[in-house]
Amino acid sequence: MITLVKNIQTLVNVRENHSLLRGKALSELPCIQDAYLLIENDIILNYGKMEDLENNQSVSPNNIIDATHQHVLPTWCDSHTHLVFAGSRENEFVDKIKGLTYTEIAANGGGILHSAEKVNNASVEELFESAWKRLQEIIQHGTGAVEIKSGYGLSVDAEIKMLRVIKLLKEKSPIPIKSTFLAAHTFPLIYKDNHQGYIDLIIQQMLPIIEKEKLADYVDVFCENGFFSVNEMEQICNAAIRMGLKPKLHVNQIHSIGALQKAISLDALSVDHLETMTEKDIDDLANSNTIGTLLPSAAFFLRMQYQPARAIVDAGAAIALASDYNPGSSPSGNMNFVISLACIQMKLLPEEAINAATLNAAYAMGMDHQLGSISVGKKANLIFTKKIPSLAYFPYSFGSNLIEKVMISGEIF
Ligand code: NIG
Ligand code: FE
Repeated sequence: MITLVKNIQTLVNVRENHSLLRGKALSELPCIQDAYLLIENDIILNYGKMEDLENNQSVSPNNIIDATHQHVLPTWCDSHTHLVFAGSRENEFVDKIKGLTYTEIAANGGGILHSAEKVNNASVEELFESAWKRLQEIIQHGTGAVEIKSGYGLSVDAEIKMLRVIKLLKEKSPIPIKSTFLAAHTFPLIYKDNHQGYIDLIIQQMLPIIEKEKLADYVDVFCENGFFSVNEMEQICNAAIRMGLKPKLHVNQIHSIGALQKAISLDALSVDHLETMTEKDIDDLANSNTIGTLLPSAAFFLRMQYQPARAIVDAGAAIALASDYNPGSSPSGNMNFVISLACIQMKLLPEEAINAATLNAAYAMGMDHQLGSISVGKKANLIFTKKIPSLAYFPYSFGSNLIEKVMISGEIF
């Protein structure tokens, strides 16, 4: 099946050779005006200017889509979510409005522990069904690849159950999924005073099952005061690295405690959150190969300071944007809102935000060969916008749905 998309007003993020974008390069977003795009089954076959279509068209399409007045972009890659969960936490949301802090709620057995109780009581089918609905919703909002973490199980059975649900989602999902093992999300109450006991459980009981059933692509740890220390993170990561799981880590959300430096020395693919960054943290990140994944909707929802994106980019670090979709700190997986927030509150240029949510985000989940740009041989996962006056209108007009349709694997979703 050959699909021709013709009369595209602007074809966005067109690249043949690419690498991770940092510094000035993040603001360069290559586009073709008045373009065509040829797709063979689920793969981008060719593209160019409409005026060159006749010369270059050696194949005759059996499907033609007219994209007059539309911008066509690669779909968003959401490289950090927790979208398998049970129940919701709007009661804590109200408690926070009344004055409790995130840490106080967690200390009272709320927060992650509250979600863990619900996940422990939920069946695989229930978890799958609710996650499936969230997955359908984020695809409609333009997400074409997603990373999903465990971390609301916190017991051998429930962590493995979550990972099996993610594996099932991978098998059935129209979009690619990466799976991350996050048993080190918080200490279960019974291990509150026996941290080593829980770490041993992770290393000696959970990791061998994960290795045997190939249940994860990455390992994650929430490294933060009151959660996992830098040394505890290192122990868990070293064990996971030995079985081939690269770290993607929650660091510098509330405190700067040396987690970022340790993550870099562990060759982490990404360090995520980064609300709290010292100048040294920014420099160290800029001088590393690790990607900084910024989660502005979590800062928004928790009323925290936003990630210092401008300083991080200007120092030369590579950044990605992700939704952090989860019931506690970002109950939304809408990447369009994330991109608007990045521009409005963190002063990223629209071009920078789009690059950070597509190409760099694809790198941050190991999918840069298949997704993140309009390139020959990549997957035809595309966003078709409604008629908009310019690309900057997309983040500017926050809260409006400006997506006309989404294409996944060459087919309209
Ligand atoms: O990425 N910070 C750690 N974990 C999640 C929130 C988890 C929760 O509150 O349920 C996050 O923000
Ligand atoms: Fe998270």
